[in-house]
Amino acid sequence: MTETETSRTESPAQNRPSTPFDMIGGVEPIRRVVDAFYDLLESDPQYAELRAMHAPDMAPMREALTGFFTGWMGGSREWFTAQGGFCVMTRHSKMPITEKTAKQWSDAMRAALVVAKVEPGFAAQMDQILTRLAAGMVRG
Ligand code: HEM
Repeated sequence: MTETETSRTESPAQNRPSTPFDMIGGVEPIRRVVDAFYDLLESDPQYAELRAMHAPDMAPMREALTGFFTGWMGGSREWFTAQGGFCVMTRHSKMPITEKTAKQWSDAMRAALVVAKVEPGFAAQMDQILTRLAAGMVRG
C-alpha cells in the first residue's frame, strides 16, 4: 500500500459517508432553496392559503428554515442548539394543516428545488421525503 492509500483509508474525515448536507453542496444551495420557496409563497397565488398561515414578514422564517435544513441534513446544528431542541412534528402539531395546505407546501418546495438548480436526482429524493413529512402533518 502506498503512503497516499494509507492516508486515504486511515483518515476518518475522508471515510465518513457523505451527509445530505454535503451532497446538496452546503449552506449556500440550502439558502437558495429556502429563498426560492418563500419567494414563491410571496408571489404565486397558487400558494395563497399557505402564505396566509404565515406572518406578514417571512424574513425570520427564511433564517429558521435555512437553520433547520442545515442541521437536519447533517451540517451545523447551531440553529437547533439555539432553539434549545426542536421537533418539526411537534412544532406543527397545533397548526390547522389541511391536505390542501400540506400539498401547497410540498408543491412550493418541489418548485423551489428546481428554481435553486439542485441536482435533479437529489432533488427528487428530497421531494419524496419532504412530501411524506408534510402529509404526516395534516390534521383532519
Ligand atoms: C405541511 C405543511 C406545512 C405548513 C402548512 C407549515 C406551516 C408553518 C407555519 C405557518 C410556520 C410559522 C409558525 C409561526 O410563525 O409561529 C411554520 C414554521 C416552520 N416550519 Fe412549517 N409548515 C409545513 C411543513 C413543514 C415542513 C415539512 C417542514 C420541514 C421539513 C417545516 C419546517 C418549519 C420550520 C423549521 C419552521 C420554523 C419554526 C420556528 O421558527 O419555530 N414546515 N410552518
